[in-house]
Amino acid sequence: MKVSIILAAGEGTRMKSKVPKVLHEILGRPMLFYVLNACKKASTEKNIVVVGHNKEKVKEKFHDETDVDFIEQPIGEGFPYGTGFAVSNAVSEINDDDTVIILNGDTPLISDSTIDCFLKYHECRENAMTVLTADMPDPTNYGRIIRDGDANIKAIVEEKDANEKEKLIREINSGIFAFKGSALKYAIDNLNTDNAAGEMYLTDALEILVSAGEKVGSFKIKDPHEILGVNSRYELSNTSEILRDKINKEYMINGVTLIDQKSTYIELGAKIEEDVTIYPNTYIDKKSVIKTGTVIYDSKIYNSTIDEGVTIKSSEIESSTVGSGTTVGPYAHLRPNSNVGKNCKVGNFVEIKNSNVGDGSKMSHLAYVGDADIGCDVNIGCGVVFVNYNGREKFRSVVGDHAFIGSNSNLVAPLEVEENAYIAAGSTITKKVSKGQLSLERAEQKNIDGWVLRKGFMK
Ligand code: UD1
Ligand code: CA
Repeated sequence: MKVSIILAAGEGTRMKSKVPKVLHEILGRPMLFYVLNACKKASTEKNIVVVGHNKEKVKEKFHDETDVDFIEQPIGEGFPYGTGFAVSNAVSEINDDDTVIILNGDTPLISDSTIDCFLKYHECRENAMTVLTADMPDPTNYGRIIRDGDANIKAIVEEKDANEKEKLIREINSGIFAFKGSALKYAIDNLNTDNAAGEMYLTDALEILVSAGEKVGSFKIKDPHEILGVNSRYELSNTSEILRDKINKEYMINGVTLIDQKSTYIELGAKIEEDVTIYPNTYIDKKSVIKTGTVIYDSKIYNSTIDEGVTIKSSEIESSTVGSGTTVGPYAHLRPNSNVGKNCKVGNFVEIKNSNVGDGSKMSHLAYVGDADIGCDVNIGCGVVFVNYNGREKFRSVVGDHAFIGSNSNLVAPLEVEENAYIAAGSTITKKVSKGQLSLERAEQKNIDGWVLRKGFMK
């Protein structure tokens, strides 16, 4: 059986955070998600995650993940620390003839195809242990690969333990290893904490197996980006940038135009159809669906479905749906559970919440629509407020088809305005308005002759 062991028990001190390192997010998902996802997509049949520091938080975040076994590394006085000790807690799950891949939970860019190639190489060579390595332009803080005169890999030296000459080596340990089950068990039994950090290093397994006369090898990856380790916020940001480019490239290959891919953030999982155009400063989350012909400028879209041929400008849309041909913004906000129909207009500074808006309805400027069911071809004037809250409870309003709601009126819920009703501008409506009625609620206008002259205000 092929088994993966992902190490996620470390403290992550260099992140300077209360959040466990592997839960720090890259494009809307915790780092650990990407490593697990790559393992699941690759050919591994069993996935083990070793948790320790903040284990409850990590397990909670992944509680709905199926086919993952969490194993606990005891932390604290009396227990050693380090990647070797982390693995030692999982070896009871391993059979002698298993192939085991060990990965760090802080190496989120690793791909399933690399994992599969690496495991194939390891198995074909019948190695006891294979190390995934890379030539890094800047190898600082990584373990360095030591080779003998015949270029055979023989040891890994951690930065803290390396001498000046070893520090110059640019070939590094990715932290990803393949082991034959029996060899892993043997190596783990022979680890010690005899090093500068006083930790039980998994990397020492290499020297242990070499000394035991076992066959070891290495597999050098061409693109070192895939094995970048994230130990600090700076590395988190660099890794995010690489992942963003990679995701964006996929969408572009599939027919999406990104005007400025460097300022476009799309989470893995978003469904975006061909011929969608996305302008700079846009964020689209993993649960969103954007259909063909839609154009998005400078907007944030979360958990929403945007139908064909929609235009969205400088707006934020959360957990909502927008029908085909509708225009949204600039500066509109669709809050959760807003369903806007086809060919609608949701214009400047309009906020909609928990409402349904029928096809062809328009609210072009400065309106608040909360808890309302609005029919088709309704016109909502500038400054209209659906007064849905009395300080304690929320109430709904219903507006029928073809109704006209004059500018600057307040509709105080619960309220019904029937189809083809008219509300005069500036009215505060509290009672039902029936089909075809005009409802007017404001003081009568008085014009006083000569008043300005009498007051001495005339210029
Ligand atoms: C490790 C490697 C280094 C390699 C680098 C690649 C060792 C000793 N060093 O260094 O050779 O170049 O990764 O990124 O293995 N962890 C536990 N339990 C622990 C300690 C750590 O589960 O007791 C986990 C961490 O959560 C992390 C991973 O192991 O996901 C690596 O630990 P980290 O401290 O980041 O190791 P590096 O110093 O990066
Ligand atoms: Ca690391």
